[in-house]
Amino acid sequence: MGAASEAGAVDAIIPYVVAGETAIFYPGKRELSYWPTEEHPVVVRDARAIAGRLDLETNGFLVLNQPTALTDFSSAEKIRQVYYPEIEALVKEITGATRVLIFGDIVRSDAQGTPDSRLPARGAHVDYDEPTVRWWTRQVVGDEEAERLLAHRHVLINLWRPITTVEKSPLALCDASTVEMADLNRSEVRGGLDDPGRETMCGFNLQHSPRHRWYYVPRMRPDEILAFKLCDSDTSRVQWTGHTAFDDPTSPADARPRQSIEIRTISFFEA
Ligand code: OGA
Ligand code: FE
Repeated sequence: MGAASEAGAVDAIIPYVVAGETAIFYPGKRELSYWPTEEHPVVVRDARAIAGRLDLETNGFLVLNQPTALTDFSSAEKIRQVYYPEIEALVKEITGATRVLIFGDIVRSDAQGTPDSRLPARGAHVDYDEPTVRWWTRQVVGDEEAERLLAHRHVLINLWRPITTVEKSPLALCDASTVEMADLNRSEVRGGLDDPGRETMCGFNLQHSPRHRWYYVPRMRPDEILAFKLCDSDTSRVQWTGHTAFDDPTSPADARPRQSIEIRTISFFEA
C-alpha cells in the first residue's frame, strides 16, 4: 500500500476468487451464489491520465471520449434504436471489424431497492469464454449465419458508460497485458444479464497475482466510455481484461448512487 501517492491513484481492495475455485454466480439471486473470494489491497491507477497511450491489443482496454445521443436509459426500445447503432459504429471504428453484433445491455445501480440482477458486480471476472461467445452469436443471428461468421476471427468487447458522473462503486479494469491464463478460474453465471431464465454462461474469475496492474477512471463522466476485450478467438492475442466494481476511498460520504450502462459486442473480421 501507499503507492497511491501517484496523481489520481488510490489504494483499494480488489475481491479475487480463491485460487482453484469454480464460482457459480446467480446475479438475480445473489444469496444462492458460490463465489469464494479473498480481498487484496492494490493500487488502482488513473486510466484517464494514460488514455492516449492505451491500446486494445496491448492493454485490452481503452478510455474514450464518446458522447451519446441517448437520454432515456430506462427505455429498452430507445437503447435498441439509439444506443445499439452508436455502439456498433464505435466498435467498428476501434477494431476495424467488418461486422459487429450487439447484445446484453444492462443498466446497473447501487441505489437502495435495486434488484440484485442490476447491482454492480464485485469480484474480478472476465465475461465470457469462447463457447459462450459462440452461443451468443447463434442467439443473435441464428445457427446458419453464426456458422458462417464464426469461421472468422471473433472478439468479445464490453462497453461501459456512466449514466451520471460516478461518485462511488466505480469499475476497475486489470491491464490485460498483466493477466495470464494461469490466473483464470472457470466460472458459471446462471440467469445472467437480468434474465433469471437465461441459460448458464461461462467465463472466468481472476485469482490474485502480484503482476496485475489495475486502473479506473476517477469521477468517470457520461461522455466517457470504457471499451474492454474479454475474449479473442485468436488465442495469440491479448484478451481477458478482468474487471470489478470496487470502493473508491475518495468517494464523498454523500456520494450519489452509481448508475451505469454496459453493453456487449462481438466483432467479426471477414476476409
Ligand atoms: C461488465 C461488468 C460490473 C459493474 O460491464 O462486464 O462486469 O459493476 N460490470 O458495472
Ligand atoms: Fe463483467
